[in-house]
Amino acid sequence: MKYVIGVDLGTSAVKILLVNQHGDVVYVVSKSLSLIQEKTGCSEQNPQDWVDQTILGLSDLLKTFNGDPIDIEGISFSGQMHGLVLLDENNGALRNAILWNDTRTTAQCQEIYDAVGKERLLEITNNPALEGFTLPKLLWIREHEPKVYAKADKFVLPKDYLRYKLTGELQMEYSDAAGTLLFNVTEKKWSKEICDVLGIDLAVCPPLVESHAEVGNLTPEVAEKTGLTNTTRVFAGGADNACGAIGSGILEDGKTLVSTGTSGVVLSYESSNEKEFQGKVHYFNHGAPDAFYTMGVTLAAGYSLRWFKDVFADNESFEEFVADVDTVPIGSNGLLFTPYLTGERTPHADASIRASFIGIDGSHVRRDFVRAVMEGITFSLHESINIFRKNGKIIDTIISTGGGAKSEDWLQIQADIFDAKVVKLSSEQGPGMGAAMLAAYGCGWFDSLQECANEFLAEDKVFRPNRANVEQYKKLFTLYQEVYRQTKELNEKLVEYRK
Ligand code: XUL
Repeated sequence: MKYVIGVDLGTSAVKILLVNQHGDVVYVVSKSLSLIQEKTGCSEQNPQDWVDQTILGLSDLLKTFNGDPIDIEGISFSGQMHGLVLLDENNGALRNAILWNDTRTTAQCQEIYDAVGKERLLEITNNPALEGFTLPKLLWIREHEPKVYAKADKFVLPKDYLRYKLTGELQMEYSDAAGTLLFNVTEKKWSKEICDVLGIDLAVCPPLVESHAEVGNLTPEVAEKTGLTNTTRVFAGGADNACGAIGSGILEDGKTLVSTGTSGVVLSYESSNEKEFQGKVHYFNHGAPDAFYTMGVTLAAGYSLRWFKDVFADNESFEEFVADVDTVPIGSNGLLFTPYLTGERTPHADASIRASFIGIDGSHVRRDFVRAVMEGITFSLHESINIFRKNGKIIDTIISTGGGAKSEDWLQIQADIFDAKVVKLSSEQGPGMGAAMLAAYGCGWFDSLQECANEFLAEDKVFRPNRANVEQYKKLFTLYQEVYRQTKELNEKLVEYRK
């Protein structure tokens, strides 16, 4: 039997999957990653942690594996998007990486609009300037840490840095380049125009490859430390959302994914980039050759539930924590939650907004809050579905993955709020599976990613919307939408008190 490895470099953990030729996940290893949040709005990680934890995870995996390491034919990567890793001329990291959920760059987003123009930026990158994207972070370093900027020779994204440390080869691939705001999504090349108007040297942008491109082998030191051989072929990989799409079979028009990781996304396959969404949702290159996807993002999806559990039920398992939400009626006994713990992206690109519980009553108990958090996250994802539907997309079946697919109660809440069939996959592994599939396709096991998906993926259970619940949620959703408008100004005034 032959195997491939998919490495998913997330925000809270690096998850490594060993997958055989039938798509069975033979081993899973997860190593946690810590966040550095020195000030409100700041979110960083030490790139060396990604490398150390991945090597540790691979070595644990190889210790458990009782086959011949030579049969592990390929490895590929999925990674948290947008994070800026600045490298010096020897490809050493110059500082901590600034992550996708860091929102310190509002002024730099304006600087981009002033220099490039809103319309032109949308024409070139298919996206608006958002705090989370890479280019605003690069401009922030130029302004606030000029000595670091002066030493910068290249920038890469998190999984590209990790892959570089494992192979000694430095590249970026199209699906992640699409989230930098320096990339021409249609022409699949770096935008000289954007670099020129902002005074950025084009040479800072790394070479680009396809997601399934073979980029080298593991270095002898990494092979030695992990127990892998240096015949294992390394493939470039993709952005976590592109890999999440591949790993859930979102490989043809009409397919939609809802994934609740730290962030939550609603993602839809696009065979061309000609549709018009006026920048209301992201438009990125897919990890599947010459395809695209559109996507709305809830910044704090799984993060909201984890935050609530960490603060109020630290010593309980996730299963215990959510066990009694089915005993709480729709609407959580009059409690509404907006999940804006770290600001929001879709539909409100707003770095200052913060979360609210509205309607707290003396009779509320913890389970009301837990259900309200789940409903609030799902309402936020529904805002993206609404945008897609308003732009003519038919969304009647949704593949649901991530933390939100681990609870059947939550899957039913999704079906009722989205008013669509919600499908849970058997052995759902998210972006790590997409990375493994890129390696399997790259190794030539299949003629296409779709063929690989046919072999590797299967549906487990379908959750259908309940008409009465759908109607109740429709009414509640309009109240949920009102909370943003009613709390926006208040939150702007509270900014000065945040440390
Ligand atoms: C997408 C985004 C997040 C990260 C999380 O634009 O910022 O989904 O990719 O890893």
